[in-house]
Amino acid sequence: MSNQYHEPFELLSEKTKDITRAINSLKEELEAIDWYNQRADIASDSELRSILEHNKSEEMEHAVMIMEWLRRNMEGWDEEMKTYFFTSSPITGLEEGSAQPDKSKEVISFGTSLNIGSMK
Ligand SMILES: [Fe+2]
Repeated sequence: MSNQYHEPFELLSEKTKDITRAINSLKEELEAIDWYNQRADIASDSELRSILEHNKSEEMEHAVMIMEWLRRNMEGWDEEMKTYFFTSSPITGLEEGSAQPDKSKEVISFGTSLNIGSMK
C-alpha cells in the first residue's frame, strides 16, 4: 500500500499524501496513453483501432484532469504551466532568462540599484 511513498508514510502530511496519489495517478494515465497509442498504431482491425484511439483520448482527459488538480493544489505547477502551456514560440526560449533580454526588466533593475545606492 505504501510502496508508492518514498519517505515514511507516517511522517507525510495529508496534503503531501494526496499529491502523491495524484502524481501516481498521472503516471498511470500517461502509461495508459502510451500503451493505447502503441496498440492503435499496430492494430490490424480498423474498428479495434478506433476503440483504442477513443480509449487513448479518454486517458488524455484523465491525465489533464489530474494535471489541473496538481496546478490547483501543488505549488509550482501554476507558474510553469503559465510559462509553457498554450504558447507557440520555441519552448526552450520561454524559460525566464533564456529569451532575448527584456528591456523593461533591465530598466527596472537599473533604477532599483540606483535607489539602493542612494540610500546608503
Ligand atoms: Fe484513465
